[in-house]
Amino acid sequence: MVLSNRIKKINVSPTMKIAQMAIELKSKGESILDLSIGEPDFPTPQNIKDAAIKAINENFTKYTINSGTIELRKAIAIKYNRENGLKYSPSEIIVSNGAKQSIYNAIQAVVNDGDEVIIPSPYYASYPEMVLLAGGYPKFIMTNEETNFKISSQQLRNSITEKTKLLILCSPSNPTGTVYTEEELKELITVIEKEKFFILSDEIYEKIIFDNCKTKSIAALNQEIKERTITINGVSKSYSMTGWRIGYAAASEKIIHAMNKLQSHSTSNASSISQAAALEAITGQQESIINSRKEFEIRRNKFYDKISSIQGIKCFKPHGAFYLFPNTFSFVGKRYNSYAILNSASLAEFILREAKVVVVPGSAFGAEGYIRMSFAASIENLELASNRISDALMKLT
Ligand SMILES: Cc1ncc(COP(=O)(O)O)c(C=O)c1O
Repeated sequence: MVLSNRIKKINVSPTMKIAQMAIELKSKGESILDLSIGEPDFPTPQNIKDAAIKAINENFTKYTINSGTIELRKAIAIKYNRENGLKYSPSEIIVSNGAKQSIYNAIQAVVNDGDEVIIPSPYYASYPEMVLLAGGYPKFIMTNEETNFKISSQQLRNSITEKTKLLILCSPSNPTGTVYTEEELKELITVIEKEKFFILSDEIYEKIIFDNCKTKSIAALNQEIKERTITINGVSKSYSMTGWRIGYAAASEKIIHAMNKLQSHSTSNASSISQAAALEAITGQQESIINSRKEFEIRRNKFYDKISSIQGIKCFKPHGAFYLFPNTFSFVGKRYNSYAILNSASLAEFILREAKVVVVPGSAFGAEGYIRMSFAASIENLELASNRISDALMKLT
């Protein structure tokens, strides 16, 4: 009995090993600080929870239209128009079980066997695996802190071949927190315009931005680009609703129809109750977004100051999302007792065992020599974690 070739192509999340070690240490009573988590630590706002309770009490507990309720898709269309300058009708929108499913559906809808998909690296860990599942080949463009983790139009031009089918952009980025400006996107468009591939723009961290910087949807820059762009968003990160599993995509009717077909034969509609909650999130008070954004900025500033002052660390200051992605190359080759730092995975293990802090190795995001640390944690825990990490790294010689 042999498993499918498709499933053999992909790997389990590289964060699993470190997560398992953390669980073992916690079960032995160790005080572990977990900075590996990709979700806001605030509770879901009360008005959203109330809308879900109301939905249950009113028996809104059955299947909905596969692509999402008309009320929710209308609200998303209004949001896109008002906030992103993008005009979509509800038939150009699909609601999925998290942004992750929207991304998966989109990749399945446009990528053929042998197609190439351009992915700037460091990247969200699921992109390459989803591309492989669709029979495509991820083609990475390397970036680093010297270029603010952004690709240049020249790099993009050099990566395009006749097999290029899709470009994936993520801004604000997980894991780096870089945010493309309107000018930078316009610059990339000068290359894209001459080509024929699709663009997937993952904007899930749109609301978590700092330093008064502005996000821009690439689809809003030009009608021709809009027609081949799939814009992804969702309520998970903005409204602290990761567990509710609501994401959405906007694109041409043809692409949305294709994504809808796939969803209709896999999960069908996202939870009716979560859709009611997401409707309240998008149409109700937006105070919680403002408050969490402010709180994340305070944490970013404190955590960045602490981490970037550690000797040997070079840290990019993120303008969005809630992660620091410091360059830790200088620790590779160093040792302490039985520990030898060979790569980002052994550094993450060392930090876990010596500092009792869970961080994610950069290799999970295609970036050896880096680690990712989330600042979706209390100021006290961030302070404690940075002190512990600093003390542990000092031991390496
Ligand atoms: C860049 C990026 N895109 C998409 C997702 C998936 O979001 P959701 O929880 O809505 O599926 C995540 C979650 O970590 C993410 O970081």
